[in-house]
Amino acid sequence: MTEEHYAAGDTAEDPPGSHRLVIVSNRLPVSLRIDREQWSARRSSGGLAAALAGVAGRGSSVWVGWPGCVVPDALKQPVSEWMARDDLVPVFLSADDEELYYHGISNQVVWPLFHYFADKMEFSEAGWNAYQDVNRRFADQVLAIAAPGTRVWVHDFHLTLVPGMLRAARPDLQIGCFLHIPFPSSEIYRTLPAREQILEGLLGADYLGFHTHDYARHFRSSCLRVLGVESEHDAIPFEGRRVALGVHPIGVDVHGFDETLARPETRSVFTELCRHYAERRVILGIERLDYTKGVGLKLQAFERLLERRPDLRGEVVLLQVIVPSRLDNPEYAQLKRDLEEDIGRVNGRFGNPGYTPIEYLHRSIPPEQLASLYRLASVCMVTPIRDGMNLVAQEFELCQEERADLDDPYRGTLVLSEFAGAAQVLPRALLVNPWDIGRTAGVLEQTLEMTAAERAARGSSMAAIVRAMDCDSWARHFLARMDDAVVKSRAWFRSTRVLQRGEMDEVLAQYVASDHRILLLDYDGTLRELMRTPEEAAPTEEIRGLLTDLAADPRNQVHIVSGRHRDTLAEWLGDLPIWLSAEHGFAWRAPHDTWHELERRDLDWLPSVQERLLDVSEEVPGTRIERKPTALAWHYRMADVDYGVWRARELHSQLEQDLAHLPVEIIHGHRVIEVRAAGVSKGGYVGSVLDEVDERTFVLCMGDDRTDRDMYRALPPNAISVHVGGGDDQTRYSIPSPAKARAFLRELADAGRTPAAD
Ligand code: UDP
Ligand code: G6P
Repeated sequence: MTEEHYAAGDTAEDPPGSHRLVIVSNRLPVSLRIDREQWSARRSSGGLAAALAGVAGRGSSVWVGWPGCVVPDALKQPVSEWMARDDLVPVFLSADDEELYYHGISNQVVWPLFHYFADKMEFSEAGWNAYQDVNRRFADQVLAIAAPGTRVWVHDFHLTLVPGMLRAARPDLQIGCFLHIPFPSSEIYRTLPAREQILEGLLGADYLGFHTHDYARHFRSSCLRVLGVESEHDAIPFEGRRVALGVHPIGVDVHGFDETLARPETRSVFTELCRHYAERRVILGIERLDYTKGVGLKLQAFERLLERRPDLRGEVVLLQVIVPSRLDNPEYAQLKRDLEEDIGRVNGRFGNPGYTPIEYLHRSIPPEQLASLYRLASVCMVTPIRDGMNLVAQEFELCQEERADLDDPYRGTLVLSEFAGAAQVLPRALLVNPWDIGRTAGVLEQTLEMTAAERAARGSSMAAIVRAMDCDSWARHFLARMDDAVVKSRAWFRSTRVLQRGEMDEVLAQYVASDHRILLLDYDGTLRELMRTPEEAAPTEEIRGLLTDLAADPRNQVHIVSGRHRDTLAEWLGDLPIWLSAEHGFAWRAPHDTWHELERRDLDWLPSVQERLLDVSEEVPGTRIERKPTALAWHYRMADVDYGVWRARELHSQLEQDLAHLPVEIIHGHRVIEVRAAGVSKGGYVGSVLDEVDERTFVLCMGDDRTDRDMYRALPPNAISVHVGGGDDQTRYSIPSPAKARAFLRELADAGRTPAAD
């Protein structure tokens, strides 16, 4: 943590050029302080900077980030040039940006909420606007320097919108994103006011990494519950792409620590510390000032230890280093005062002249001292209330390794909170629930009395893990899996046959050239987004306008082919000059005409099936039955997503067994199970519409779920079939969403109007 001073006027020799990897994070590895015309740089604190600094210097990469303070206009150019020498690219923020984006949303909304401190969340519209704006500026900075196909690796919770922004602007980029903090359970996550935007922003990435499987699982369930997006274990299909998910517990800069430990300065600091603490056993705590770190609970556990074990008074010292952090935030400033008060109380209670039970430093410490303290401590106490990973725990185990080499019986032990991600990678630590003060104190006692053999066994296995999973290997694995994800996503994309611009132009050309066109359009999930209740999906002005414009062209015949009840279709669309096919083809009408229907079917089964479905809908909250003349539908879109799927699968298989002898078909659509009279299908209607057409007729058919497959099967070979949503191998093309489907139809409607077409 050497402090270097630089003056305005230092120039860059190698400005960043083409880089294979662009790293983007809020924090750069150095943070500046400005004093009039001069700036000084110090090493940034925290796990992200520590681990990434180990990665970034060792390859062809450039790092985009905030320099850590407001840089006056006159210094921006020289600071940029000076940073460029180390392949750093600053994104300058104003004092307002710092206040609103960094403190306001990043540290006062996302940070507390993702660490389960929902009551500390303070959301403001102004903050959210600034968060979006600053994310945009980070994205713009990346776009300005990233050559085509560059790998961009976005980090952490400050920049959750950047992947989506990059994706929208430059689909050629390979975008990875890693979250350094926990991803909370969806029950917590869904209290976030901007919950959709943050998920959609993250889903802009090709590859999303988390420290633990739990965080990835929570992310998936938030996508399901907040966006309604279903996922596989390792991927989420989203807007025609496949966003892969990975678990990559971050590691420490082993190389950097090895170097520091080998330095003569470190050895002399260590010797001095050993002399100073010769009579005492040191319990070490090192954390950034943060309420997530559970320092208050740790102080209570230490106090309890001294209460219970008078013999340890005078013998053990808690050496607590608090690295200054986010002090402009009143919450943090208050925390500092509270902790200092607690420390004063314990010291007042158990201290003596010559013995201070808790020694406290509120400052950053240089690497030599840090490594020496890790090496010296008998116990390292890492007891956060929540922590994404926690590198202190890993660094401690690494620096203790050398004591095993020296066959030192006093090798230290690690007391670790089970709520830190590190607990999953260091399972031989003594795991504690930091809220349980009595037991934590008991574990401290246990560890102080542990045999040398046991300490060595636990320590050496953990040191080996830390060495193997260092930050280099973390980055290597992340990037390799990201490359793999990009290849898979592109292959998957090809298999979904998402309509490309060139193909769209061909479709347009065929449409314009044809003087007889039949458009067969499903409604729900195709023209209109699927809504929680069927009534909410009434057509918008946009949809009605679109259908009107399409139907206005005398060469067009527009058919809505839906499973909906005829009365609903008539009410919503009956005034438009279009054909309506309702109830999966059972009833139909020409524009403004009366309804026709197929010959009545055997419907004796209806009452008993209805009773059956009523039973289930009474049992499963949020589900309901829709009655149609020849069908019954059980809708479960409003039920709990998991429970709904579970009961729907069960119901579907029971109905298939029990109704096998009846003239019915059972269809499992998008969150609906429908039992309908056999022989009624959208395919029958489409077949009758297309009965007399020749191959010069332009036929377009669009659908979104299984009931639409009946339509696809009835199409002639030259028809253009389009599946909306995820791919369906029975259509020629797919379009990712109803919004994009409408945009596609709008292009057709507008192309039909151009003079060239007349
Ligand atoms: N650290 C630091 N300055 C110091 C002491 C420690 O930057 O004065 C480093 C420490 O070595 C570790 C990081 O800060 O790498 C803390 O990371 P951790 O994952 O434990 O917590 P975070 O601060 O990221 O929440
Ligand atoms: C955590 C976050 C990092 C952050 C660090 C220090 O480790 O995950 O993104 O850089 O804390 O916090 P600060 O607000 O000083 O950057």
